[in-house]
Amino acid sequence: MEATGRTALHVCCVLFFLTEASCEFIHIPSLVHHGIEGKPLLLSVETRFPLDDAEIQGTWSHTRPSGSRTTLVTFTKEATITHMMYRDHLRFEKPNVSLTIQKLGQDDEGDYHLSLNIEFHNKTGVVIKEERTVRVTVDVPVSSPVIEKNPTYAVVEDKANVTLTCSTQRGTRVVFQWLRDNIPLGPSDRYHFSQDNATLLISPVRKEDKGTYHCVASNPVSPGRHSRSLELNVYYGPYNLEVNSDQGLRTGEVFTINPGQLVFFECQADSNPPNSYVWISKSRNSTKVINEGPRLEVLSYRLAQAEEYLCRAFNNVTEKQDEAQFTLVVASLGTGKEKHTQEGSSVSPLAAITVCSLFIIGCMLLFFLRRTCHPKRVLMGIYNSRPLSEQKRPHRSGHEDATEDFGIYEFVSIPGKMESAQVSCRSLAHLESVQDMHTTIYDVIRHVPETPSHSLLK
Ligand SMILES: *[C@@H]1O[C@H](CO)[C@@H](O)[C@H](O)[C@H]1NC(C)=O
Ligand SMILES: *[C@@H]1O[C@H](CO)[C@@H](O)[C@H](O)[C@H]1NC(C)=O
Ligand SMILES: *[C@@H]1O[C@H](CO)[C@@H](O)[C@H](O)[C@H]1NC(C)=O
Ligand SMILES: *[C@@H]1O[C@H](CO)[C@@H](O)[C@H](O)[C@H]1NC(C)=O
Repeated sequence: MEATGRTALHVCCVLFFLTEASCEFIHIPSLVHHGIEGKPLLLSVETRFPLDDAEIQGTWSHTRPSGSRTTLVTFTKEATITHMMYRDHLRFEKPNVSLTIQKLGQDDEGDYHLSLNIEFHNKTGVVIKEERTVRVTVDVPVSSPVIEKNPTYAVVEDKANVTLTCSTQRGTRVVFQWLRDNIPLGPSDRYHFSQDNATLLISPVRKEDKGTYHCVASNPVSPGRHSRSLELNVYYGPYNLEVNSDQGLRTGEVFTINPGQLVFFECQADSNPPNSYVWISKSRNSTKVINEGPRLEVLSYRLAQAEEYLCRAFNNVTEKQDEAQFTLVVASLGTGKEKHTQEGSSVSPLAAITVCSLFIIGCMLLFFLRRTCHPKRVLMGIYNSRPLSEQKRPHRSGHEDATEDFGIYEFVSIPGKMESAQVSCRSLAHLESVQDMHTTIYDVIRHVPETPSHSLLK
């Protein structure tokens, strides 16, 4: 220990004498002390030079928060003079110049200054001056906090304010914190804290405030001390009313059930205290209470037609109620197998669309191809269909048929079926021949009206 001290000294002094930079001959591990009232406190100092090789002279003094300053101890290596007022109160620790306060009181708060002059034997005339300040606070540990609530009874949502108070019998500089279900609470538009956080005003109380409250009290000398838990009960609701059933098929507010089926309905709503439920049938002109309680049992064969039901939930403390209405329809829902087929059919529209699209594309292609062979279409169409329709129909005279008769002459003008097809396709390549054909058609049209006009005149 002494050897390392000497080494440190040598390094330090070499540095000191070479650069005149200050080096630490004393070290104070803690510059702030939170003392407990009635307990001793050591203002610890570590000397980093061999006391044997030096002469020291120094003081400990105390500055109170008020500003008054007192010199507590004056010391040299050989002698210690403690202020007579503090002889029983303070103890100067001889080898390392630490100071012990025997029994802390509120008066001991403040700043403690250590002033130390060191003169080494081998460097007489060179005085090294060290100054340090240690801050001391004195606190009373916190006793268990007590949590209270006003009003003490359960409250109704939106209609009441609740004040929670936290207090401790003992403790200085106490800081309070509030927890609901172990989650710390901060100020909000409904949560108002007093200056020291000792009271929490909830105004107004809501459903979400329901829970278990704690307060935590702490100060510099006491870790957080938890109060006992306090339950805040808030009456609310009903909220989120809904009717459910395991059976039947639900579509919005319509339940469809199979004939002969026994169906249970369950009415649920979030509420404190629990709701009272009433089931009402609205099938006839007059509404009728048919059941009380959250469950309703319906035998489908008892239903003549679609019936309307209503579940009413009522919270007799908040005096609020909510209703859910639904229609019950009895219809054959089919077996599971049929259901499966139905599911299968739900895919079929897609298939139908695909088939339709393909068909349309096919038609368009066909149309395009046929269009490129326009003359053929006209001629072939005439050739193939004309005689048939002619055969089917009874003889008719009249102008309205004349348009249909145009083609027949056209056919006459072409020598043969096979030949006509060949000609028409070839004609695509040779515009002249197409023109020829058109000429032929035109001629025919021009000649047609003569015959019908005859018949009309007759
Ligand atoms: C200083 O000396 C006192 C009394 O001998 C001792 O209790 C304390 O631990 C010492 N402190 C340091 C930092 O060495
Ligand atoms: C709750 O506090 C608000 C103000 O924050 C006040 O207006 C209201 O009257 C109080 N309600 C009750 C029931 O005390
Ligand atoms: C409220 O309803 C409950 C049943 O849900 C019943 O036990 C209680 O007596 C009712 N209270 C009042 C004040 O009507
Ligand atoms: C139902 O009420 C209507 C008028 O609200 C009335 O004309 C009708 O007679 C009532 N039907 C029955 C079955 O009560």
